[in-house]
Amino acid sequence: MHQFGYKRGRLYCEQVSVEALAKAHGTPLFVYSQATLEDHFQKLDDALSPVDHLICYAMKANSNLGVMRTLANQGSGFDIVSGGELLRVIAAGGDAKKCTFAGVGKTEDEIELALRKRIYCFNVESEPELQRISKVAGRLKKNAPIAIRVNPNVDAKTHAKITTGTYENKFGIPYEKIESVYRKAAKLPNIWLRGVQMHIGSQLTSVQPFEDAVAKMIPLVQRLKKRHNLEFCSIGGGLGIVYEPALASGDEKWWKSKDAKGILTPAEYSRRLIPLLKQLDMRIVIEPGRFIAGNAGVLVTRVEYVKKTAHKNFVIVDAAMNDLIRPAFYESYHEILPLKQGKGGKISSDVVGPICESGDTFCKDRLLPRIKEGDYVGMLSSGAYGFVMASTYNSRPLAAEVLVNGKTSAVVRKRQPVKEIWAGEHVPRWLK
Ligand code: LLP
Repeated sequence: MHQFGYKRGRLYCEQVSVEALAKAHGTPLFVYSQATLEDHFQKLDDALSPVDHLICYAMKANSNLGVMRTLANQGSGFDIVSGGELLRVIAAGGDAKKCTFAGVGKTEDEIELALRKRIYCFNVESEPELQRISKVAGRLKKNAPIAIRVNPNVDAKTHAKITTGTYENKFGIPYEKIESVYRKAAKLPNIWLRGVQMHIGSQLTSVQPFEDAVAKMIPLVQRLKKRHNLEFCSIGGGLGIVYEPALASGDEKWWKSKDAKGILTPAEYSRRLIPLLKQLDMRIVIEPGRFIAGNAGVLVTRVEYVKKTAHKNFVIVDAAMNDLIRPAFYESYHEILPLKQGKGGKISSDVVGPICESGDTFCKDRLLPRIKEGDYVGMLSSGAYGFVMASTYNSRPLAAEVLVNGKTSAVVRKRQPVKEIWAGEHVPRWLK
């Protein structure tokens, strides 16, 4: 459920007209709904209520300080993947002690920072990393809390670029080797074996792969818990969202319709996983990113030109692949809607950005309402992996971001001034 919908023919985010925001702040513009972020967090919190749990929001999905603070205020912890993300948690007013640190390439500096800030746990991805954490912790005279990431070799049946839990992937330590690695880790100085972790992939739309992976993990985790007195088990993130039809999924009625049948919901996730997780009698950690932020954001863009050829109706907008790379990178679908509903009928259209690459395309041959120059459109489900993956390719400044709360809104990131793009660059002396 989300808080974007039409009222009297205008798209609203909560009680604010999205077009009014576009006119006030310019485009491209990301608009986020605070109520949606809170609702998604609460739904997961409720789903996990039968067990002791900690939700560590995977901030890589959307790390804007306003979004982060919204979640910190709900009691969320954070799944971080860099020293920069840890500093962002602190800047947003989050609690470093509720952070889990994932990623295959943690540097010594990042490990040191995380130890000094007393994070909850390092999710360790390899034996060399274990050695390194032990060494850095020894130097700082601290005990490093760690969980080892298990690669359960379960196919998440999602896009190849976001599948992480098979032996083809660089992540974790193979299931069969885990017990011997825990034994070695137990002998290392300055290592505190605190938990065990897994994550099989992102945008999972069925509970089955989660259930398969958790069921496979249970006997292993029970043995590890007994042997090493572990406190928690993290089952990662990966809960998928509805990209199509994203608008309809904001309506409670849609969730009760036959179209929603089989779609992963927190209730279904809980119904199938809680009985398994209860057997562990441990704290359960989850690391959802997209589920919380994905449908809480829209990318708003203005139509610059409509170019009609013998073959195509190209709608050229002022957002591009540098603002939202998902369609170009993963062939992903984002629902595209006019901010103002019209009566002009529909036409097969390609919505494209201004960048000189054919990949700079948001949709191809999609039946869309007739849109004209100067109109605004919204690309739904852009709250996760949207702004955070943006770049300044083509010297295009980073977009602005707005957070809506009921009737009010605030700019939570101003549009990047264009000169800032090259502010850190210099022409060397010998060229002048
Ligand atoms: N935990 C770990 C260890 C992860 O690697 C990830 C995501 C998450 C949690 C959060 O996954 P989520 O709940 O958001 O599915 N840029 C891609 C998605 C990359 C996901 C990377 N890892 C996209 O736009 O689809």
